[in-house]
Amino acid sequence: MERKITVPDIVKRKGGDPIVALTAYDFPFGRIADAAGVDLILVGDSLGMVVQGMDTTLPVTMDEMVYHCRMVARARRRALLVCDLPFLSYQVSPAEAVANAGRLVKEGAAEAVKLEGGVSMAETIRAIAGVDIPVMGHIGLTPQSVHRMGGHRVQGQRRGERPGQRERIIEDALAVADAGAFAIVLEGMPLDLAAEITTRLSIPTIGIGAGPHCDGQILVLHDVLGLCDRFTPKFAKRYAELWTAAADAISAYAREVRSRSFPTDGHSFHSLVPVPRDEKVAAEG
Ligand code: KIV
Repeated sequence: MERKITVPDIVKRKGGDPIVALTAYDFPFGRIADAAGVDLILVGDSLGMVVQGMDTTLPVTMDEMVYHCRMVARARRRALLVCDLPFLSYQVSPAEAVANAGRLVKEGAAEAVKLEGGVSMAETIRAIAGVDIPVMGHIGLTPQSVHRMGGHRVQGQRRGERPGQRERIIEDALAVADAGAFAIVLEGMPLDLAAEITTRLSIPTIGIGAGPHCDGQILVLHDVLGLCDRFTPKFAKRYAELWTAAADAISAYAREVRSRSFPTDGHSFHSLVPVPRDEKVAAEG
């Protein structure tokens, strides 16, 4: 087995080989992603949308994050395991944030946590990192701010200091790094802005919809596998069509049950015929 990837290993990748990150939410896909050589697995609160079928990530709870993280932790052998802090598990107070980050580590077996927000979350990042729980930041398009943003919209395309504007996003990036995050997700922003942030920060940037100049890339597992019936966002690439493959397989199963061509004799068990006593004695003698 290849050596386990740790937080310092990810930090050292700044400016080096691109970091490959992917979300996973359960044992089978955690095992597949890990075996395929993904460096960092994120148990994202995107599970609210791609696993639970909700429109936003907002309803996801701490208990649900712990439950999914534990499943992926059992599967993961090499990759670094990061778990999202869900909406309102860290915004109320730094003390509550530390307690919830601790739950993800103690109960979920996460090795690091991720939270969304920039300048306004700096104190919280400092508090969590201060008890030696590594923190990954997340700025730009932050799905937990969906109502403020008016939808899942690209951020930083306009100049200005208001939330979601270019100068403010740079401030957010600097604040997250300064507060002690070991890496930062840049989501849904122009590629030149992500490039500028990547140059200015000494911690690795991991992009999603942020162009090719980041230190690594992350995508949502279900987008990569084509395992969703919703639209695929422009920034994602479908490397397989598992939704269609699964639908075809299940339809074939249903057809064969209805036509009685499944199960065959080969899929069936047979009664054991007792060996008559005389034959048994002859065979043993
Ligand atoms: O929840 C998630 O999956 C994420 C990634 C999109 C970065 O935060």
